[in-house]
Formats: sequence, C-alpha cells, structure tokens
Amino acid sequence: MSGASGKLGQAILAELAARGADAQVVAISRTPLAVTSSMERRAGDYDDPALLASAYAGLDRLVIIPSAEMRPGIRSRQFAAAIDAALAAGVGHVVLVSAMGTRKREEPHIIAPYWVGEQHLMRSAPAWTIVRMNYYAESFADDARMAADAGVLVGLRDNRVAYVSRDDLAAAVAGVLLGGA
Ligand SMILES: NC(=O)c1ccc[n+]([C@@H]2O[C@H](COP(=O)([O-])OP(=O)(O)OC[C@H]3O[C@@H](n4cnc5c(N)ncnc54)[C@H](OP(=O)(O)O)[C@@H]3O)[C@@H](O)[C@H]2O)c1
Repeated sequence: MSGASGKLGQAILAELAARGADAQVVAISRTPLAVTSSMERRAGDYDDPALLASAYAGLDRLVIIPSAEMRPGIRSRQFAAAIDAALAAGVGHVVLVSAMGTRKREEPHIIAPYWVGEQHLMRSAPAWTIVRMNYYAESFADDARMAADAGVLVGLRDNRVAYVSRDDLAAAVAGVLLGGA
C-alpha cells in the first residue's frame, strides 16, 4: 500500500491486521519507519520512479493513496508515475483512492488530478478498482475543533455533503484487497 503512513493508510493497515492479513501487506511511503506496525515496510516516493520500481516489486495488488500535494499538475503526475510503476512491476490489480464527483476538469481544479489518475488507470491496468472518497466526517470534526480553538468559523458554505468515516473507507479498501475482485 502506497501512502501507508498517513491517516487513511494507517486505518487500512489496522483493518487488514484485524482481518489477519498483516503478513501479506507491504507498507510504502517516503517515511516507512513512520508506519507503526511489524509488517514489511518499504520506501516509495511518487516523485521518484526508480524508487517506486523497487517499492512495488513483487506485489500482487497495490493501493494508491494520493499525497496531500495541492500544487497544480503535481498530483496528476504522481498518479501516472505510481500507476506506470505498478504495471511495470507486474502488479495485477491496482486500487486507486480517488474522490467523489470526479469528472473532466482542468488544473488547478481540485478534481483535475483525480480525473487524470482514473483515466490513466482504466486505460492501462489489467484489473483495477476506483474507490471514491467523500468528505471525511473526521475532517469536519477537526474543522469544528479548530474553529472552537480559534473562535472563528471559516469555510462555511451551503452545500450538500455525503460524509464518509475514514474508518469506513478503510474497511471498504481492505474488503477490496482481500476479496475476489
Ligand atoms: N476527503 C477528505 O475529507 C479528505 C480530508 C483530508 C485529506 N484528504 C485526502 O485524502 C488522501 C489521504 O488522506 P490522509 O488523511 O491519509 O492523508 P495524509 O495523512 O496526509 O497521508 C498522505 C500519505 O501520502 C504519503 N505521501 C505524501 N507525499 C508522497 C509522495 N511524494 N510519495 C509517496 N507517498 C507520499 C504520506 O507519507 P510520507 O509523507 O511518509 O511519504 C502519507 O502516507 C490525501 O490525498 C488527502 O489530501 C481527503
């Protein structure tokens, strides 16, 4: 799993461990030692294709969790690099964590890189799954805590949101990894 040291990655690892699959999992990020688990850990950087090649070697399935990179164009390039490295390494099934509402948009729209990643995956991978995250309920709680601490409400807008718990998303990804899909 690429992006294993982050909040979603750790939640997926916990799900996999709870289902007894720790021994089959490789946790990958730029700082693999940040992954607090006994499973195999490898260094992998979406901006370093050579390192990705060694990180993904021998994997059957790969989950790609996007970085939090917001500069225009970078995350699109990272998605393509991760997918290309996975396919070159012979990964049979790639699971891409994408975002709800993804459609064709130009950079710097926040959805643009997800569109690029999804299209690249569907065109090139022999087997793939796209898991589209929605706004995390935990993020909303974090926002509320920050607003309470600062005494200021920011970013409020009248909008429709189908919240998802990060742990529920993690359980869904673990199910895809361990299932027959
Ligand atoms: N839908 C929502 O409400 C919501 C809220 C927050 C975040 N998100 C997005 O959801 C995704 C996952 O969320 P999260 O909370 O798990 O984020 P996170 O805690 O920031 O984790 C991001 C992961 O990506 C890895 N990463 C960052 N840059 C990388 C690079 N160049 N190469 C390889 N790995 C890299 C990080 O590890 P290293 O630094 O060790 O490489 C980390 O494991 C992110 O894209 C984030 O922007 C969505």
